[in-house]
Amino acid sequence: MSDTTQSTQTSAAGRAGNPLWSSRLAFILAATGSAVGLGNIWKFPYITGENGGGAFVLVYLLCIALVGLPILIAEVMLGRRGRQSPIQTMATLARLDGRSPHWALLGWTGVLAGYLILSFYAVIGGWSMAYVAKAASGDFTGASSDTIGAMFGGLLSDPGTLMLWHSLFMLIVIAIVVRGLKSGMEKAINLLMPLLFLLLLVMVGYAMSTDGFGQAVTFLFLPDFSKLTTEAVLTALGHAFFTLSLASGAMMAYGSFLPKGYSLVSTAATIAIVDTVVALLAGLAIFPLVFANGLEPAAGPGLIFQTLPLAFSNMAFGTLFGTLFFTLLLVAAITSAISMLEPAVEWLEEKKGIGRLKGALLAGGSVWLLGITTVLSFNHWSGLYPLAFIPVFEGKTFFDVFDYLTANIMLPLGGLFMVTYAGWCMKPQALAQALELHPAVLFNSLRFVMRFIAPLLVIIVFINQLI
Ligand code: PHE
Repeated sequence: MSDTTQSTQTSAAGRAGNPLWSSRLAFILAATGSAVGLGNIWKFPYITGENGGGAFVLVYLLCIALVGLPILIAEVMLGRRGRQSPIQTMATLARLDGRSPHWALLGWTGVLAGYLILSFYAVIGGWSMAYVAKAASGDFTGASSDTIGAMFGGLLSDPGTLMLWHSLFMLIVIAIVVRGLKSGMEKAINLLMPLLFLLLLVMVGYAMSTDGFGQAVTFLFLPDFSKLTTEAVLTALGHAFFTLSLASGAMMAYGSFLPKGYSLVSTAATIAIVDTVVALLAGLAIFPLVFANGLEPAAGPGLIFQTLPLAFSNMAFGTLFGTLFFTLLLVAAITSAISMLEPAVEWLEEKKGIGRLKGALLAGGSVWLLGITTVLSFNHWSGLYPLAFIPVFEGKTFFDVFDYLTANIMLPLGGLFMVTYAGWCMKPQALAQALELHPAVLFNSLRFVMRFIAPLLVIIVFINQLI
């Protein structure tokens, strides 16, 4: 028996309570559930608006294809090979490949990144929840863009209400993680992901009927490179990592439940394509409304909450569609949030022998506590810049700091090391065996991308930013 199978069996046996995904489709759904979330529908449109549109979108698409996809393949492969929480997986693999035990650090930074992201993600998830309630009670009906703007401003300025939704969101996430991955997730995602897709199409359909559609298409797809800054390139790269849930433990943890014998490349490509299409659809649903109503594309994190309700205020069955839309956004946020908490809980279970219930409460509870800093970033602490003494964090609130630190620093660096591990630290035969990619020319090309293209691109973007 080879080392790999042996370690796979021992560790797989160690998680008797957590069987593998029931099929490749189940994995694709769960991983897509992780990838598709607020990143696609909330973040992608607003950072595109802030960074001038077309050129940013193009760079983002290149980052997904040349950096994100190879790293996604590498990360899922490492997870499947190690079959444990990201921290233990990296430790086991380093031993197996005869590398330094310090590679376990990569598991640590991943789990930490997922944890930090969840702290602010839960607050934004809370906004979506608040909007389900607003939509359902008919608040959008006939509302003007000023009313809708004021509604959003009112929510942000009220820490008590934000706390309530933030807490509720975290409770739901903890409850699902406690139930374990399969029973909690597979069924929900099966139904809700396709529904979200469908509803986005309805929204795009509505957007096409407004007179901002042409302008939106030009804005999104006609690159104007004069608007592209080096900061924007880093943001695009960081978002490619964020939106594919890379380097934050999530994909490695999910990969650890993936049975052998499925093609990692086509699986990962499917996830990346679905994720990208959802983001572009969100852009096509939102920007026509921005232009048709004379709103500001660079409005920031509130963009979707100030534009989409306008559509619901005017369209037939707006209350119904509005409620459905924000419910689905919420579900998309929950399926992503679960994947951020799972690695930490898994590690507590595996290494510290802490049961799922206690582990989820411990990890989730502390994330919730940290999230309070984000809640306050939008009101009492909106002028508090905790790391202002470091130049890149100047003028950044707690929320901005967590967002920047994870998306623009931790995820790209973590991804860089992951793909470096796959490309440089694993023997070619081990990599070939783990990837199960045929024919040889495909494998060699992918290995080349993993060794040179993806790492170099990340390094170049970083160096550029430093200069
Ligand atoms: N990919 C998720 C989204 O786009 C966010 C996420 C990041 C999920 C990191 C898991 C880990 O919303």
